[in-house]
Amino acid sequence: MSSTPLLFPENLKSWASSTAKSGYHVYIETFGCQMNEYDTELVRSIMKARGFQFTLEDEEADVILFNTCAIRENAHNRLYGHLARYKTRKQERGLVIGVLGCMAQNLKQELLDTRSWIDVLVGPDAYRRLPDLLTEALESQRQGLAVDLSEYETYAQIVPDRTGGVNGWIAVMRGCDNFCSFCVVPYTRGRERSREPEGILEETQLLASQGVRQITLLGQNVNSYRSSGWDFARLLVGVADVPGIQRVRFTSPHPKDFPPALLEAVAQHSTICNQIHLPLQSGNDRMLERMGRCYTRREYLTLVEAIRNKGPIVLTTDLICGFCGETDEEFQDTYDLVKEMQYQAAFVFKYSERKHTIAARKYPDDIPDQVKGYRTNRLIELQKEISLYKNQALLGTEVEVMIEGNSKKSDQQWMGHTEHNVTVVWSKDDLTRAPGDLASIFIQDATPSTLYGIVTRGGGGSEK
Ligand code: SAH
Ligand code: SF4
Ligand code: F3S
Repeated sequence: MSSTPLLFPENLKSWASSTAKSGYHVYIETFGCQMNEYDTELVRSIMKARGFQFTLEDEEADVILFNTCAIRENAHNRLYGHLARYKTRKQERGLVIGVLGCMAQNLKQELLDTRSWIDVLVGPDAYRRLPDLLTEALESQRQGLAVDLSEYETYAQIVPDRTGGVNGWIAVMRGCDNFCSFCVVPYTRGRERSREPEGILEETQLLASQGVRQITLLGQNVNSYRSSGWDFARLLVGVADVPGIQRVRFTSPHPKDFPPALLEAVAQHSTICNQIHLPLQSGNDRMLERMGRCYTRREYLTLVEAIRNKGPIVLTTDLICGFCGETDEEFQDTYDLVKEMQYQAAFVFKYSERKHTIAARKYPDDIPDQVKGYRTNRLIELQKEISLYKNQALLGTEVEVMIEGNSKKSDQQWMGHTEHNVTVVWSKDDLTRAPGDLASIFIQDATPSTLYGIVTRGGGGSEK
């Protein structure tokens, strides 16, 4: 394998023309999925190389950026609320406002028509142009637009400016070619493309040397990764073999691309977590067909059976309620399947029609909002019961947890996850432990989302 040098933020200066006056302060807020969080790290890296500085205080900022999500209507509404607030501040003190990401890509015209005061709109494949466009907006009040989708852009040589502590995310592929009929992602992120394996392995080594212990490989359709003769299973094992990396996860795989070698890698490799996020969407064949998911209920069940035959691999999922034409009986199929599957966790969404998608063109969005809401709540309640039941089964046992940082509520408590990705919180017992250490926790209390306990021993060592 030939080695491609990674570009550190410092080295980015070599390709970035240097017109920016340094010292502008930028505040960025990120919506949406982990891929968007990762993209924000890329944006930070690209902009820091051109002299921009980031601040956590929006009051201090010359530039306000929103990295946006378009997956459901409520994501749009959140952005519109934020924009309205900053419009007033812009009038008061001349801020530059930029909208990045999936909404910028998908709704460029609508945004420009209705909010012409936005200074810069940049889609997910055009972040290399952001420093120039912002400089022009700051110094010449020129409005900038960059929304070209690319078949090649993977930002392969840009090392993200990370903020994740012991957790590191690496986007191994971008875009999606699946065109599930409900989903806007293929339109906002364009065609699938994978990064070269050597760059991904080098980035993993770099992260390990910086103290990262848990890696999550990201892609909209992560298991369709393919590059230089490598498939996803080979890449996953390659990353898991990097010294210093103790846990590897990946999200989101599509059930249609799950070859035995991938399953084998998850089951056999000691640093690949025994946890798979396997989006189901619906348990009814007519809905699955309409959704364009390329599998039937039976095929999904067969895959789950193969996974469970390999050992204690925990599953989580995504579900959509009230998709076009979904009858009560069809919803009940999903409900019954969720009961049968006993997922550790499920993200349940109310169907939200997206412009330009196949479903928006082909099927009326005919399920009343109240019915969608009712079904969504029923599934959420069912899943809560299942998650609680599973977590309560751990009461009185010891689980191994990697310390990730302080709990949300207190700096006197640690927070981490089990290999199965369940959140665990416990009181800090002594000052020798630090994020990245493994600890053994005796579980004393459980809610559907969190385990609570006390430390029995811990520190150092590798898992399993
Ligand atoms: N690429 C991932 C999903 C990304 S979107 C995958 O295929 O698994 C995350 C989840 O949002 C999807 O799994 C789906 O459950 C949900 N989702 C996507 N489009 C939606 C829509 N129009 N309305 C409601 N939920 C949607
Ligand atoms: Fe959307 Fe389907 Fe692609 Fe996932 S696989 S991003 S749901 S089109
Ligand atoms: Fe949202 Fe775009 Fe991610 S639509 S879910 S930010 S890929």
